[in-house]
Amino acid sequence: MLCTLQEALQIALEKNQGLAAFNVYGFEDADPVVKAAEERQAPVVLMTNKAAVDHMGVGILAALLLRIARDSSTHVCIHLDHGTNVSVIREAIEEGYTSVMFDGSQLPFDQNVAITKEVVRMAHARGISVEAEIGAVGFSDPRIEFVARYSTAHEAQLFQKHTDVDALAVAIGTVHRMEEQGVALRFDLLREISHTVPVPLVIHGASGVTDGDLVRLIESGARKINLGTVLRIAFGTALRSQLSQHPKEYDRIKLFPACMQAVYEKALQKITLLHAIPDPVASNP
Ligand code: G3H
Ligand code: ZN
Repeated sequence: MLCTLQEALQIALEKNQGLAAFNVYGFEDADPVVKAAEERQAPVVLMTNKAAVDHMGVGILAALLLRIARDSSTHVCIHLDHGTNVSVIREAIEEGYTSVMFDGSQLPFDQNVAITKEVVRMAHARGISVEAEIGAVGFSDPRIEFVARYSTAHEAQLFQKHTDVDALAVAIGTVHRMEEQGVALRFDLLREISHTVPVPLVIHGASGVTDGDLVRLIESGARKINLGTVLRIAFGTALRSQLSQHPKEYDRIKLFPACMQAVYEKALQKITLLHAIPDPVASNP
């Protein structure tokens, strides 16, 4: 069933679990991600990034993903990821997305606050959730011009107070689009922010996080975990293998089931990890 980010976060909070959020490009990854979430009876977030929006537009993405969400037996939020353009955010809201992110991480603090406030006003008027970012999570590709910097607890607190966002992305060491796991994380900083800011925290670029650290992120105060590259690698690797096993096949629909299975298995593994938080009562009797 379709839900907002706020509703999905609330369910995850009540269960003391992390909320998995996956970047998807279409039916072939959205469908297996939702099936994996149904298998774990977990809420899940389907996120569309700029590449997906540039490829097929917000309207087609919304129609496809909203239908998948409405048909699902679990809670599914449809989220616009890294929105930097307010008109695209407005279009996503009008097309039925249930959550939007405004990414003002490259803007001065005051400008980030001002535009986030405008997006919150527009989205909340329709019951749509808003995520924003403080600090800036960088990219592993040096060709992308981007200034990365850690968040601070003080600016996160100030930003949340001024903007009334439903979720806040923080920069504590993750890097977008990492193809290998093992990035060094500032858990001390995450704990400090989570003790200071009364809003669910989001970790972007979690493909570069080891499985053990994914669990630690939730234990240290993060709630929504964004994963993209790791699913694209699963899909692309399976597709390469299919093409080499069936060199004469040209119907992509016959090549896709193995790719969808690979996405399902990876999503299931990550969702399962985000549920593996030790019960604080059981671990500290
Ligand atoms: O915006 C994208 C998400 O933060 C996922 O990042 O592709 O590095 O896992 P990732
Ligand atoms: Zn991101």
